[in-house]
Amino acid sequence: MARSGKATVIGAGFYGSTTAQRLAEYDIFDEVVMTDIRDGWSEGLALDMNSSRPIEGFETLVVGKTTTPDGQGYEVIADSSVVVVTAGVPRKPGMSRMDLLGVNAGIVRGVAENIAEYAPDAVVIVVSNPLDEMTTLAQIATGFPHERVMGQAGVLDTARFTWFVAEKLGLPVSAVKTLTLGSHGDTMVPVASACTVVIDGQEKLLADVLPQDEIDALVTRVRGGGAEVVALLKTGSAYYAPSAAAARMARAVATDSGATIPVCAWLTGQYGIADVYLGVEAKLGKTGVQQIVERSLSDTELAQLREAADAVKSKAADIASM
Ligand code: NAI
Ligand code: 2OP
Repeated sequence: MARSGKATVIGAGFYGSTTAQRLAEYDIFDEVVMTDIRDGWSEGLALDMNSSRPIEGFETLVVGKTTTPDGQGYEVIADSSVVVVTAGVPRKPGMSRMDLLGVNAGIVRGVAENIAEYAPDAVVIVVSNPLDEMTTLAQIATGFPHERVMGQAGVLDTARFTWFVAEKLGLPVSAVKTLTLGSHGDTMVPVASACTVVIDGQEKLLADVLPQDEIDALVTRVRGGGAEVVALLKTGSAYYAPSAAAARMARAVATDSGATIPVCAWLTGQYGIADVYLGVEAKLGKTGVQQIVERSLSDTELAQLREAADAVKSKAADIASM
């Protein structure tokens, strides 16, 4: 595929820098821009990543730029087709994602206002936590149409679910299909009814190969998947799987692929839910979320999805004022 266009990652910490590296290694963009408020940090990482190009064999130019919260340096993001927002604080062991709300809201609002000014046509992918709330805030602060602002959670949570099932059954990850909807938090909805595995060439429902109590244990592990990594790392949170997830979404947008991916998107009545950002499956393309894809859920899963929507909505008034 010919290279074209520009993708930007804001926040060059663990999540942002690995996302920029993955985007550059796809070798489909002319330029990948990485910004951070830490003086010289993004420039240093860009120098390092560009020096990896002869080894890995990609020609995408990586540009690093130090920015300030009031917008200095942001001209570098002009004409980006897609901007991934990773700026913010990660959680520490024992913290919930919601504990980050106050500090990250200030960061995300400022970043979003600068995106609106310097890259007014971009599609925005938010990853900063708490995810559903920060996506809501980014849409408010950019003033962009809802379909041009989305959040990353479902690709990651689904990938974790797939890995946990594959590990449990001793299968290749390619033999397992799973799905996770709902929020990126306590009201996450791992959709066990949608899970299938291929064993000896035959596709089977997960429910036909594992007893319910073992499926329930996997579902619980998926809900706590991020916290499990945080507890092991003791400082910072996951970034290899998260960056793979955000980079795939950015690629689907930039290449106008139309791929159906679980993302945090604005609902307008799907599943009987409206006026809230929530994890659902959606087709992605150059205009952002092109269509929400509904699937049939069990009564319990549907009730959980509505509960998740209510939980995100309950924070909406607070978020608008942050
Ligand atoms: P990190 O601490 O390594 O990096 C955050 C970076 O943001 C730092 O380099 C910091 O200097 C920068 N930053 C802070 N304020 C900024 C501003 N105004 N403009 C530009 N840059 C700014 O943290 P990490 O691990 O990269 O995580 C980033 C965020 O992503 C956290 O909020 C974390 O909870 C979230 N996360 C979300 C996931 C998801 O699935 N949605 C998964 C993993 C992490
Ligand atoms: C994760 O799920 C902390 O949201 C982050 O890894």
